[in-house]
Amino acid sequence: MLVMPLLLLALAPPAGLESPTSAEFCGRCHQAILGAWKLSAHAQAMESRLFQDALEVAETKFGSPARHTCLKCHAPIAVDKGDLSLRQKVSWEGITCDYCHSVKDVSLAGVNPRALVEYSMIKHGPIKDAQSMAHGTAYSEVHTSAAICAPCHEYRNTLGFPVLTTYSEWKGSHYAKDGKACQSCHMYRTAGDVVDPRVMQTNTPINLHQMPGSHSLEQLAKTISAQLSASRDGDQVRVQVVVTNRAAGHYVPTGSPLRQLILDVKADSFAGQHFQEHRVYARRVADENGTPIEQEHLAFMSAAKVLSDTRLAPDEKRTESFTFAIPAGKQTRVTATLRYFYSPFARTESQKLVTFLSMSRLVQ
Ligand code: HEC
Ligand code: HEC
Ligand code: HEC
Ligand code: HEC
Ligand code: HEC
Repeated sequence: MLVMPLLLLALAPPAGLESPTSAEFCGRCHQAILGAWKLSAHAQAMESRLFQDALEVAETKFGSPARHTCLKCHAPIAVDKGDLSLRQKVSWEGITCDYCHSVKDVSLAGVNPRALVEYSMIKHGPIKDAQSMAHGTAYSEVHTSAAICAPCHEYRNTLGFPVLTTYSEWKGSHYAKDGKACQSCHMYRTAGDVVDPRVMQTNTPINLHQMPGSHSLEQLAKTISAQLSASRDGDQVRVQVVVTNRAAGHYVPTGSPLRQLILDVKADSFAGQHFQEHRVYARRVADENGTPIEQEHLAFMSAAKVLSDTRLAPDEKRTESFTFAIPAGKQTRVTATLRYFYSPFARTESQKLVTFLSMSRLVQ
């Protein structure tokens, strides 16, 4: 271990430093982790315009208890520290370092999984025998397991309706049986220094804190595959698309019931006929009166039943067939496109929707 005393002085925690502390402070030594975390949805969970718009309508409709409900997951430190009006900078940091690394344990026994959090100068993590000049360390088994994610990625609302079921979907999949926790896909090992080498030389590997998920084109493209075939049958063009959930450890889409995977199929003949059809993969939910829910805050507050569930289970292969009436002899281009829809609250097109796969075939 090589420690440079001068730098250390500059990096030592300011006197009277309290936990929870801002990510910026942790990042003085854990630079690479800070950089990746800043790109994560976790870092944006409170600050994002999209969430704030949804929070505002939730509070208008349901009053102040809604704020507590939403912030419990989107800004957990604000709730734990009674800072619901977000006076502290660290509350704005959403799901920040000092929240996750103050978790001592997770209980999976109740209606909802619950984290036991204790803010102190001891940081809990996956490294056995870690030694830090800035804070105490404690090895934590729960940080290497899916349980650490469960308190926010599994949720029954006050009506007892399961709004988020990512953890239990994973639990029921072969990934859980094979010991592949959420971290193996969302926080895989990557190159980088756990601690700035100017502070201390370590050879501990680093886990990616960016948590790529559905906002990563790379994750989407490697997870959801599609095979397109098209053939002529008399005066009809027959099209088949096989859509597969190849590599997600849960349903696709998972999480918020507003997420949708959309398959668009088009047939355009060079003689001027145009056809279009689509399939939507989603878990549609409704309130107690059966009114379909179209916005996140309503899903969290008043979802009460499932209307339909067409999502792709882990490893599932779904074959979709289409028939278009295009007379023989008319050359036709068939196109299949896969899009992922995020949220109706989005103000920009890229926050709302992304196209991640497109393919086409020519039929005589
Ligand atoms: C002055 C530098 C410095 C600062 C600032 C700092 N750390 Fe560390 N941290 C270290 C060092 C050094 C290690 C030990 C690394 C090793 O042994 O491989 C460490 C280890 C850790 C570990 C691993 C613990 C384990 O047992 O797995 C966690 C988690 C952690 N830090 C979180 C934080 C958080 C959260 C903050 C901000 C509140 C923070 N650190 C601020 C230097 C620092
Ligand atoms: C304190 C609550 C909390 C914990 C703990 C938590 N998450 Fe999240 N996570 C969220 C929230 C809230 C969002 C949505 C943020 C947004 O888009 O506003 C999210 C978003 C995500 C996303 C979506 C990224 C995308 O592209 O949309 C992934 C993937 C994810 N979390 C994985 C994990 C994993 C893996 C763990 C455990 C190691 C974990 N989360 C722990 C609250 C949490
Ligand atoms: C075998 C790999 C794998 C495992 C294990 C896995 N995921 Fe994922 N996850 C993915 C991929 C790939 C995506 C992107 C495709 C998608 O959105 O479904 C994704 C997407 C997500 C999203 C984004 C959904 C959205 O609506 O934006 C969240 C949240 C998430 N995962 C959380 C988790 C949690 C929590 C666990 C553990 C309980 C977990 N994942 C386990 C591969 C995995
Ligand atoms: C959503 C929860 C979450 C957030 C936010 C988070 N971490 Fe982590 N962190 C983890 C988990 C889980 C692991 C262990 C992953 C594993 O071993 O599979 C980990 C591992 C670590 C480690 C040990 C080295 C490594 O990469 O495995 C350090 C150090 C660390 N985190 C520091 C930080 C710092 C600094 C921040 C903020 C910039 C941060 N973490 C934000 C959950 C989180
Ligand atoms: C149990 C934890 C939890 C609670 C409670 C919660 N959320 Fe979320 N929220 C999440 C997670 C996790 C995601 C990430 C997407 C997913 O899993 O599909 C998310 C995503 C969202 C999104 C979409 C963000 C995006 O980037 O697309 C909005 C908007 C949102 N939540 C608003 C709210 C509002 C408003 C409330 C309160 C009425 C609320 N949430 C309560 C965990 C929670």
